[in-house]
Amino acid sequence: RVPVAITPSVLNADLADLAGEVARIPSADAVHVDVMDSHFVPNLTLGLPVITSLRRHTSLPLDIHLMIEDADRWAPAYAEAGCESVTFHVEATRAPIRLARELHALGARASMALRPATPIEPYAELLGELDQVLLMTVEPGFGGQSFLDLVLPKIARTREIVRRSGQQIAIQVDGGVSLETIERCASAGADVFVAGTAVFGASDPDAMVSALRERAAG
Ligand code: DX5
Ligand code: ZN
Repeated sequence: RVPVAITPSVLNADLADLAGEVARIPSADAVHVDVMDSHFVPNLTLGLPVITSLRRHTSLPLDIHLMIEDADRWAPAYAEAGCESVTFHVEATRAPIRLARELHALGARASMALRPATPIEPYAELLGELDQVLLMTVEPGFGGQSFLDLVLPKIARTREIVRRSGQQIAIQVDGGVSLETIERCASAGADVFVAGTAVFGASDPDAMVSALRERAAG
């Protein structure tokens, strides 16, 4: 198993002061940045120019979550920009194996995301090409939605597939993760946790990062 990690999402933080917001979570394991193109999801956030700037303002690893069409074309540029981890959606990628290898060649971790209704089983064999699987626990597009308990059995099945593979593949969950829901995710088998509203809606975001980590570790 990989160590428990908390990767706060800046989606619902002050996007006009990204550097300032990231400075409020020094003990985070990485900063989760949601890139949306208003095609794959009905929302538009930010892209490569903003992330290139953010790169200069933080030494925390950048965990990029691409919710965009044609990830094959756009994902490598985020690795070239110095992002430590790049997540593409399997529903928006033509050649996930080729893309994962390309990201590795550029020095980034390769991560593949699944929407809540996308099953893990068809992709079991390609998990060995990845460093991380992101299981969405809300429909992607917006922060502040409520956690979908119906994804819990998929988290458990993914954990079993990863265990059988004998490889160190992180299972990240994203959407509605809070002090209230994180234990359910952890006991189902998740080890990396995205939390947006829970962290940036707290009066002390960094203390919330620690509280989430403790609760996830049980
Ligand atoms: C949703 C994004 C999430 C979102 C999580 O599409 O991928 O990263 O910011 O926000 P919360 O924690 O508020 O659900
Ligand atoms: Zn995300």
